[in-house]
Parts: sequence; C-alpha cells; structure tokens
Amino acid sequence: MSKRLKVAVIGTGGISRTHMPGWEASEYAEVVAGSDVNEIVLKEWGKAFGVTKLTTDWREIIRDPEIDIIDIATPNMLHAEQAIASLEAGKNVICEKPLAPTPGEIRKMIAARDKTGKLLMTAQHFRFKGNSQALKKEVDAGALGDVYHARAWMLRRNGLIPTPTFIRKELSGGGPCIDIGVHILDLTLWMMGNPNPVAVTGVARAPLAHLPGQWATWRNAAIPADFDVEDFAAAFVRFDNGATLVLEVSWLLHHDTDGEDMQMWLYGTDGGAHWPKDEIYTSNYESRQLSNRLLKLTKDTMEPHALECVEFARAVAEGFPSPFRPNSRCRC
Ligand SMILES: NC(=O)c1ccc[n+]([C@@H]2O[C@H](COP(=O)([O-])OP(=O)(O)OC[C@H]3O[C@@H](n4cnc5c(N)ncnc54)[C@H](O)[C@@H]3O)[C@@H](O)[C@H]2O)c1
Repeated sequence: MSKRLKVAVIGTGGISRTHMPGWEASEYAEVVAGSDVNEIVLKEWGKAFGVTKLTTDWREIIRDPEIDIIDIATPNMLHAEQAIASLEAGKNVICEKPLAPTPGEIRKMIAARDKTGKLLMTAQHFRFKGNSQALKKEVDAGALGDVYHARAWMLRRNGLIPTPTFIRKELSGGGPCIDIGVHILDLTLWMMGNPNPVAVTGVARAPLAHLPGQWATWRNAAIPADFDVEDFAAAFVRFDNGATLVLEVSWLLHHDTDGEDMQMWLYGTDGGAHWPKDEIYTSNYESRQLSNRLLKLTKDTMEPHALECVEFARAVAEGFPSPFRPNSRCRC
C-alpha cells in the first residue's frame, strides 16, 4: 500500500532519529525530506535514513507542496515560528517538547492551528508508553474516584546537557522545568483529566550549577560559566476543581538515583496510584482491608518516541478518534 502522507523533518539532530522508526512503521506516512542548518548532521541523517531531499533552509521545506506533515525537532526557541509558518503553509505539525518556552507563544500556535484547521501535536512521548496507557484507562474508568491531589517529580542527580541550546536561556527558553518537567507535568495533568490551573506558586533557581568544580556527567564536561537557567524548580498548583499538585524538577540534585527518578503519585477519593510502577492502592476503612493491585501490562512493542509518530500519522489520515486522542479540554 502506498504511503500517501509525506513527512519532512526540520532539525535532524539527536531526537529526530528516535522518530524515524515510527515514520518507517506507519502505514500512512513516509519521510521524504529533511532540513538542518548543520549540513554535516543533515547529510549523515539523510544517508542513514535514505532521504535525499535535503536543504539547510527550513522555509524551502514548508513551501514544498508535496509535504503534508512537518516534524519539528529543532531547539525550543524555534518551535513557535516554525510551527506557525508550517500550519499557515497548510501542513500538519508534530513538534518536540516543550511546544514553546512561553504560554504566549503556545497560544499563538494554537490560534494558528484553529485558523488553519490543521493538526498540531506536541511530542509528549510518555503518554504512549504501555504503563501510561494502562493507568490512564483505570483512572478514566473511575478506579481512583475523584483525584484530588498529585505528587510528581523528575529528578536527575547529575543529568544536565552542557550544550548552549539547553543551558543558555536565550536559546533554550528555560532549564529543567521546561526540558524534563514538561514530561512528568504533562503526564500528571493528563491523568488528572486536565483540570484548569487557577493558582501556581513556584520557584526556579540554580543552587548547585555555579558552585566551583561542578560538572555534567553527560559528555563528562564542566558546566559552562554561561549557564543561566535554573537547575531546580518546584511548584504547588491549585486547580478549578479543587485538586492540587506538587511538582519538583531538577537536573542536578543530591538525590538517591544513579540517573533519573521520575514518579507520579495520584490520590483520589476511592484509591491512589503510582506511576511508573502502575500500582493501585485502596483502603476499606470499614473492613480494615488494604489492597495493592499491580496492573497487568503487555510488553511495549515500539519505543514511545516512534509510536507517537505512528499515531500522529493515523490521526492526520483518519481524523480523531485515535486511541491516543488527548482530552478534549484544552488548558490554553
Ligand atoms: N522527547 C524527548 O525525550 C526529547 C529528548 C531530547 C530532546 N528533545 C527536544 O527535541 C528538540 C531538539 O533537541 P535535540 O536533543 O535533538 O537537539 P540537537 O541539537 O541534537 O538537534 C537539534 C538540531 O536542530 C538543528 N537546527 C538548529 N537551528 C535550525 C534551523 N533554524 N533549521 C533547521 N535545523 C536547525 C541543529 O543544527 C541540530 O542538528 C528540543 O526541543 C528538545 O527539547 C526531546
């Protein structure tokens, strides 16, 4: 069967490569073009994936009438401009996280999506993991009752990427909060049914990154002196349905983990849950029965970065509902 949707990737660096198995597996879409300002990276990527339509000018890509889907995997500060231009050129857009560094830019992206009627999806791949899908099904079926509180964190002991597009605010738009915090925050809000936030108290600071001798295990390099984003962020959020959320995020923290500690706890009127363990906790206070139930999971057949592309292509081809459709309620 011919794959009728043609995809172009803008930004052919590290993360774009994790999308490629998904486009390859899709029954609807195939990658036919790529763009990157770094010609060496672009050529290597083209060779690795057999893509020959290559250009260093991303605007050339979005003007191409053959292209239906743009896959944006460039640094954060470019997402809004490239996504809006792509939507206005009549393309459907899947864009790496964070969708953009500021709510104002994201609102403009959503306005462009609504004006053009095209699809815009942020690549929040954790939603596509089997344990996320299984827990979401339980929560939506009411296993926890009303979820009134959540605790969520994504903490790295020493896991910052010492490259300018991650650690210089003018290029990244922010530090771990928008880099990795978006993963656990998105997952938690999605599990909670996307209630509307009404108040946020937060802090973003860098208590460790500037201490003498600090280094990043990633590439085993010293933390550059021009590091100007936070290394730690925490927030307390209240929602319009009365629910609350505590969020903690860090790239650099004296914490008991070799790599990364990413967890979510949900507390509802009928039960609690833990992710990624996928365990549900209930307590019958009358009969004094406490029960812990591990959800049965099937092995993931595809990496979530790839699966999100498979499902995006399906959504473009078939329209919603896709099994992975987002909550209809949009917070922006
Ligand atoms: N979902 C995840 O797990 C995950 C993981 C890592 C990164 N990301 C996100 O992916 C994006 C890219 O990160 P990365 O780690 O792949 O970075 P990267 O530096 O490896 O790749 C980005 C590429 O974009 C190219 N680029 C820069 N400006 C460009 C322009 N104007 N036009 C075309 N190409 C341009 C760069 O040359 C580079 O090759 C970021 O937004 C990041 O937050 C997501």
